Amino acid sequence: MDLVIRNATLPDGGTPVDIAIQGERIAAIGPRLACTGAREVDAEGDLVTPPFVDAHFHMDATLSHGLPRVNASGTLLEGIALWGELKPQLTQDALAERAMQYCDWAVARGLLAIRTHVDVCDDRLLAVEALLDVKRRVAPYIDMQLVAFPQDGLLRSPTAFANLKRAIAMGVDVVGGIPHFERTMAAGAESVRLLCEFAADKGLRVDMHCDESDDPLSRHIETLAAETHRLGLHGRVAGSHLTSMHSMDNYYVSKLLPLIAESGVAAIANPLINITLQGRHDTYPKRRGMTRVPELLAAGVDVAFGHDCVMDPWYGLGSGDMLEVAHMGLHVAQMTGREAMHQCFLAVTATPARILGLEGYGLAPGCNADLVLLDAGSTVEAIRLRAARRMVVRRGRVVSEAPRARASLALPGRPGEIDFRLGR
Ligand code: FE2
Repeated sequence: MDLVIRNATLPDGGTPVDIAIQGERIAAIGPRLACTGAREVDAEGDLVTPPFVDAHFHMDATLSHGLPRVNASGTLLEGIALWGELKPQLTQDALAERAMQYCDWAVARGLLAIRTHVDVCDDRLLAVEALLDVKRRVAPYIDMQLVAFPQDGLLRSPTAFANLKRAIAMGVDVVGGIPHFERTMAAGAESVRLLCEFAADKGLRVDMHCDESDDPLSRHIETLAAETHRLGLHGRVAGSHLTSMHSMDNYYVSKLLPLIAESGVAAIANPLINITLQGRHDTYPKRRGMTRVPELLAAGVDVAFGHDCVMDPWYGLGSGDMLEVAHMGLHVAQMTGREAMHQCFLAVTATPARILGLEGYGLAPGCNADLVLLDAGSTVEAIRLRAARRMVVRRGRVVSEAPRARASLALPGRPGEIDFRLGR
């Protein structure tokens, strides 16, 4: 074997196993495998997971924080206005260089698949060209999926639909939308219908920014689910954000949840950004603004957590760490039960992999040899510690390594070194 990782704990727990890798694939998994590897790694009982997956990101804006100025109000709408100020100043080279730097961070965080929206409302489609180029350059180590995103509104911006179609023809993978940003509720619903029909016609997936608002009457998710059902797009559609669901009437939601589940529409919450941008018009109490994650899960809906933003007009923090995203999601959704915390880990790994339709994802013989060795013994401990990525493997090749998190102590009668792990 090319690489054998010994004594690794898998995400669902159980007895530690060995993972044997030959070439770009996992050849075998089991206790004490009778094979030898050109390189052998002792996981020492630590967690090995398939890579982190970010189901919702904006690569065209990332690492542009402060350009041309910082978002003073902290609101979504000032962020959109600020992005509008920055767009004419963007150059392809600078945008690509920022994206490449972010991808370096992502790899070191074990984040090896990213679905990124790309704004198509600039007639030059400069960001589309730049990110298609970045996608080609990072393909050996990151699976990047691009969503054609009409940031200024599909119907509100006169050239948006034509630009979106051009972007898809250029190789962008997924159809995006932003119905709550159209001028009227009716225009929002119309945009959903047009985009879903276009996706059905082209055989594409759909992922819309949907109801990213505190307005409980922003109900475009209902139209998105109904159009998904009408056009037979089950399993290929995601609603991103869905923050208005936080503020909706409970009776209405009791009717909405089964519709979403029956339509096979996935939900993508973005906890860091939802908790930051929503509720800005409230005094006190202030709404959290994240969608109803436990209720969606209980209804059988796939729910992923996305990062959405890292150091851009909407958010000045972040470093590509999906464990930070899961950590925030867990807190905001109050998902503190043991199984609920584990589900938060799945929301940044297996669930988004399913939503993106990633092939060969997982830890099983025949799957891609893509995995992350964490400085943690379980999925919950990984979230608690935002654990160091001891080793990141892509297609059988070690692409990043980092030391365990440890601190030395100089205290009388106490250990000389601690690692923040319980019972060690
Ligand atoms: Fe977004």
